[in-house]
Amino acid sequence: MFASPKQLNPIADWHKSGEHIELCIAIDIGGSGLRVRICNAINTKEFLDLGHVRAQGTQEAISVFNNLGETLKECIPSFVCKSAALAVAGPISNGRVVLTNWAGEPESRTLVADELPEIIFPRGKTLFLNDLEAGAYGIIAAQESGILEKHFEQMWTHKAPKGKIVSDSRTAVLAMGSGLGVALIVKSDLLESPLVVPTELGHMQIPVVCKNDPTSELEYELVQHVSNHYYGGKQTPEFEDISSGRGLCLAYQFFKLKNESKRIPVEQINAGDVAEAARTGDKTARQALEWHYKIFIRSAKAVATSLTCDSLILALDNQVKNGWFVNAIADVLHDEFYNFIRPDWMNGIRVYTQIETLNFNILGTHYMANK
Ligand code: BGC
Repeated sequence: MFASPKQLNPIADWHKSGEHIELCIAIDIGGSGLRVRICNAINTKEFLDLGHVRAQGTQEAISVFNNLGETLKECIPSFVCKSAALAVAGPISNGRVVLTNWAGEPESRTLVADELPEIIFPRGKTLFLNDLEAGAYGIIAAQESGILEKHFEQMWTHKAPKGKIVSDSRTAVLAMGSGLGVALIVKSDLLESPLVVPTELGHMQIPVVCKNDPTSELEYELVQHVSNHYYGGKQTPEFEDISSGRGLCLAYQFFKLKNESKRIPVEQINAGDVAEAARTGDKTARQALEWHYKIFIRSAKAVATSLTCDSLILALDNQVKNGWFVNAIADVLHDEFYNFIRPDWMNGIRVYTQIETLNFNILGTHYMANK
């Protein structure tokens, strides 16, 4: 059983005098499982976070949801769920999503809002958000409650003056986890409140350098290796093919093969282990991690210049965990970022990296579940 009655005890105290306990449910669905937050719909400051629970497909997720609904009913018979929001990876269309961070055939990784258990997902009041869309709302929520600044540090301050993290025009939020997500926060005098636009820009194909670039040879070899793996060597890979958990594993496979002529099956490589090996000085792991971040910064550059953003937020707990490495290769990333065919377009773009952990996705999902 996922949620134990004891775990749900605090909810019963939320408003003892009332007849009903009105709840909102916020769920962040990641590659390895779900994070569930139960919120008091009357006093949105009150909420309960249940731990991480494994779910890597439709059936597993539905049984967690059923279990949660049943346990809530058993412990708090008078509860009513007013609304719910779920953060999911992948494009959402008409209340349906095929999650990109679960493995298997599309039908075993599809969620449909109207097919979720109604007891916690009320019809017409259950919202799917793209995970980065949720993350962007989380940034807005953190800003509203005055806790945003301490979670980020501006990179390359000698290149861009200090300014607002969420700019008054366009800000892109990027996160590299099991996938590469990007969302846009648009502010304008024409809008009453900031508009969040989910995007699928992590799936753009990588703009590769030309022959005279100093590391072009290595880049071509890496890109070819990735293309061989996914596209029969014919098409240019997408940013996410290198800048994601699976991307780091494939980059590690490439450098291991190049350095030691050893081919490790990619299924036997773990992204967390590669990052850890880099920390202990393993050369191959460091090379893989460097290209993983270099391509990430290249995607940030493409997003900022094409969508004319003046602020870029590199978010996610991975960014915090690997902060030591981001600092160690700050010059490489700087050169990658500012190496652009229209250098004047790069002036003044502020880049922020997350330095303190906080799950912005669940924060934003909570924020939107109550709207
Ligand atoms: C998905 C995006 C998602 C990103 C981060 C990508 O594979 O297509 O929708 O935002 O991963 O999870």
